[in-house]
Amino acid sequence: MLKWSPDLSVGVPEIDDQHKLLADRANLLFEKLPGSSPELVLDAFSFFESFIATHFETEASYMDSPAGAAYKNAPSHKAIHERFLNEFREYRQEMEQGATDQYFVFELTRWITDWYTEHINTVDKELGEALRAFETSKKRQR
Ligand SMILES: [Fe+2]
Repeated sequence: MLKWSPDLSVGVPEIDDQHKLLADRANLLFEKLPGSSPELVLDAFSFFESFIATHFETEASYMDSPAGAAYKNAPSHKAIHERFLNEFREYRQEMEQGATDQYFVFELTRWITDWYTEHINTVDKELGEALRAFETSKKRQR
C-alpha cells in the first residue's frame, strides 16, 4: 500500500497533490492485480499509466518554465521518467502474456512502491527546491 506523507512534500502544491493522487491510483492497481479479470487489470494498468504520464508532463512543464531554468538536472530527470514508463510498459506486456502469478504481483508492487519513495525523495525534491529558490529570488526583487 502506497501512502503519501508530509515528509514527501516537494514544496510545490500542484506536484504534491499529484503525488497524493498517484499513490491512490497505484493502490487501485495493486488492489486489482490479484484475482481480478484480465480486463479489469488491464484497465487499472492503463489508468495508472495515463495518470503517471500526465504527471511527468506536469513536472516537465515546470522544468521548462522560467522557474525551472536554474534546475540543471532536467535532462536526466526526464530520462528517469522515460525509463519508468518503458519499464512499466514491459510489466504490462508481461501481464498481457499471462504473468499474473503472486511473484509478478509482488515484484510490480515492490518496484512501484520503492520507486515512488526514492524518486520523490531525491530528484523531485531537488526540482522542488530549485523552483522554490526561483520564487524566493523573485519575491526579493519586488
Ligand atoms: Fe519526477
